[in-house]
Amino acid sequence: MAGRIQALVAVDAGFDTHAIQSMLPDGSGVEVVGILNGLDESWRTLQETAPDLLVVACEGYSDRALYFIDSAVKQQPERPVVVLTMGSPNGFVRRVFESGADDIVTLPEPPDRIAFALEKAVARRRGAAVASGIALAPMICVLGPKGGTGKTLVSTNLAVSLAVSGHRPVLVDLDLQFGDIGLALGLRPDKTIYDLARSGGSLDADKLDAYLVKHSSGLKVLLAPTRPDQASSVTVDFLRDVFTTLRSMSDYVIVDTPPGFTPEVIAAIDASSDVCLVGMLDSLSLKNTKLGLETLELMGYNPDRISLVLNRADTRVGITHEDVEAIIGRAPEVLVPSDRQIPISINDGMPIVTREERSEAARAFQKLAETYADEEREHVAAAPEPVVSDRGGKRRFAWRS
Ligand SMILES: Nc1ncnc2c1ncn2[C@@H]1O[C@H](COP(=O)(O)OP(=O)(O)OP(=O)(O)O)[C@@H](O)[C@H]1O
Ligand SMILES: [Mg+2]
Repeated sequence: MAGRIQALVAVDAGFDTHAIQSMLPDGSGVEVVGILNGLDESWRTLQETAPDLLVVACEGYSDRALYFIDSAVKQQPERPVVVLTMGSPNGFVRRVFESGADDIVTLPEPPDRIAFALEKAVARRRGAAVASGIALAPMICVLGPKGGTGKTLVSTNLAVSLAVSGHRPVLVDLDLQFGDIGLALGLRPDKTIYDLARSGGSLDADKLDAYLVKHSSGLKVLLAPTRPDQASSVTVDFLRDVFTTLRSMSDYVIVDTPPGFTPEVIAAIDASSDVCLVGMLDSLSLKNTKLGLETLELMGYNPDRISLVLNRADTRVGITHEDVEAIIGRAPEVLVPSDRQIPISINDGMPIVTREERSEAARAFQKLAETYADEEREHVAAAPEPVVSDRGGKRRFAWRS
């Protein structure tokens, strides 16, 4: 990132200015140009100065802070805003994103973590993937707000498709309590993300690689813990490090997620370059898919980076593809049919893309993988520097015939 990021810190009434001072990064890529007591005072200074970044510190839920963020974003929409707070009571995180902030950090956090969040907010706005300029692979977060829509089916088949077509993907099972990628791919959970989290010490590519389990397709997998009680050892901070390290050592990172927007899922979305949203052809699932899209929009996720997969798309339930478009507000890019071979392939621990590679379902996953691969090739050809950054531009998926 060129030059240090100039950050202005606006401290809400009730928050100890000295306390915030000790938490702020010092000597990193962020230069704190002012810490202002009270949001009124901050507002005046904001009119007169042009910081790269606005940091708003507040104790907990604060309508004043929300109003301030909203006004600051309206005044200068390009300037990123990061919120530091001691607690995030119900509804506050959502309101913070609604008011236009880029990120929210719950304190206490070490200064280097805060620096990372601040640099990331600026880097995102500047279109770079990371402040460090290291080339990062695309990270595709497979989401489905509702359980059982086919997230694990899509993520395993997408990842294996990429592997068999010569890429070096890594698949992460983020369903920390009930992850079943090991079963779906017939892998023994000799090493899991729990073992990695418990290993302590710093994380680097070599160390992480030792905890990946290899699939016959060439795909490497970071498996979920084997027992639900182990999930709590895997913290959001640790996950952020894992995602960044994986993106620096592979061609693609694909993340299978549990249903809902849990803190781990939000961290994965945050760290990702793409979201693949999986819905099914029934009105409840479609409603949840729409809610999922709206939530991503509130989080400021670029809609061009979201692809929509409609699973069991041929099911006759009285909902047409036109209805789907009307409910969700956009057409799905890939349609996966129902196929009896799918549950059989899961029971066998062999993905449908290798078990029945000519089936319509397998071809849908191959097509999904190709769209990511094509886009990546185009990006690499067009990019003057090897930075996987804002890979803008609309996806060119097409409806299956
Ligand atoms: N297109 C399909 N045809 C036939 N069966 C399917 C299809 N899609 C999913 N299934 C079946 O539905 C079940 C749920 O799929 P999957 O595990 O991929 O969903 P999920 O979204 O990952 O669920 P969870 O939210 O519990 O993690 C699987 O057992 C699978 O066999
Ligand atoms: Mg699943």
